[in-house]
Parts: sequence; C-alpha cells; structure tokens
Amino acid sequence: MSLAIETLSVFPGLFEPYMSTSIMGRARDRGLVSFSAHDLRDWTHDRHRTVDDAPFGGGQGMLMKPGPVFEALDDLTCGGERPAHVVFFSPCGHPYDEAAAARLSRESRIILVCGRYEGMDERVYSLADEVVSLGDYVLTGGELAALVVADSVVRLIPGALGDDMSAADESFSDGLLEYAQYTRPSVYDGMRVPDVLLSGDHAAVAAWRRASAIERTALWRPDLLGQADLSAEERERVRALVEDSNGPRGE
Ligand code: ADE
Repeated sequence: MSLAIETLSVFPGLFEPYMSTSIMGRARDRGLVSFSAHDLRDWTHDRHRTVDDAPFGGGQGMLMKPGPVFEALDDLTCGGERPAHVVFFSPCGHPYDEAAAARLSRESRIILVCGRYEGMDERVYSLADEVVSLGDYVLTGGELAALVVADSVVRLIPGALGDDMSAADESFSDGLLEYAQYTRPSVYDGMRVPDVLLSGDHAAVAAWRRASAIERTALWRPDLLGQADLSAEERERVRALVEDSNGPRGE
C-alpha cells in the first residue's frame, strides 16, 4: 500500500512545486506515495476565513485558533479511509532525525499540520501523535518543516530512489556520517582522489569507506559515536583521532 502524505496549512500552494519535482514527483508517478495539501481556511466559518487571534494574557503577535484545526482534523481523520498519524511542528517538539523519518515511512497515512504566526493555541497539540522540531531555530511557519519531513520520508520508501540507488549506504543509516566520495577527474587542481578508490579492489574500498565514515564522524559529529556500532579496534582509532584533532570543523 502506498503512503498517503497530507498537509494542513494556510499556504497549501507551497507544497505542490516541490512534491511534483525530481524524486518526489517520480515516487508519486510510480504510485509509491500520494500527496494532498488541505487549506486550513476551508474549516473557518466567517467571511474573512480567519484562522488566527490574539493571545490571552497579552503579548506579541497572533496565534492559530483551535477551532479550524480541531474541525479539520476531525473531518480528515474520521472520514479517512486509513488511520492517520498526525504530526505537528514546533521548535518545542522532539528533534527530528533519520530514525523518525524511517518510522514515518512505515505509516500508511500521515497528516502534517503546519502552524504560522507566533504559534498555535496549546489545546491543538492534544490532537498530535507527535510534535516534531527540525532544530534549535525558529521558522516562520511549519510548511518548510513539513517539506523536510515529506522529503526525508519519501526517499526511504522502497523504490523511491530508483533501482540503482539505496538509502542504506548513507549518513545516519548505520549511526555514522557517510564516507567521503569522489568523482572524475581523479586529480583536480592538484588534489588527488585516494588511490585505493581507483584500485578496483572492492574489499580495500569497503575498508577505506568504513574508516572514512568513522573518521568524519569522530571529527564532525562525535556526539553520534556513543550509539554507533564500533569494534574495540575502531573505538581505539576514534580515541586517537579525537586526541590528535583540534576540534570539529567549524570551531
Ligand atoms: N516551526 C517553527 N520553527 C520550527 C522548528 N525549528 N521546527 C519545527 N517547526 C517549527
């Protein structure tokens, strides 16, 4: 059964261009995923189709009213052919990661609820199966977060990346960052591709890639190493690397 992804937002037109392009569009054409964008204003009852109001207790900006969100999700989930997994977005949510993407890719229907303005009336979160944060920064709305989630989920659906590509070999798939990769030319402006990658020796290439993944993770994302499945020898190598380094890139 294909995955149904739906969004609920006040800017439903933002999604279609991305979701019909490249890998997203192809996954749709292949019937692996369906996508629909609902307009939250369709569940308002006033002439101005109002979805926001001022916060009780004062303060800056406007909040999304609970009514349209409750009514929309009531209609969408009760009328739906399949049970829906409802995701809200907020900087206060759980940090989103590849494991969450993999979990969502196994759902049959997900509804991504996007806020705008200064946030949402707290009561709407009682409708959430989960609240997701993309990171410790504030976006002007949940639409970009929904696109990030949709993209990361769709590419994990078997067949979405095409027959010759796999999500199994990438960053985070084994708890490590992905190994360094190179393409032609083998020497560019004096910078050489490691000889082993030109050797045709598959075992040596695999060993080099494993070492590269560990090295990059140790230098750039040492926080990931606690969860990674490393041999005693690899742990020792990591210890030596961290000792030698002057800290991760960007410090
Ligand atoms: N909405 C606003 N900021 C956000 C963030 N960092 N993650 C998810 N949703 C958001």
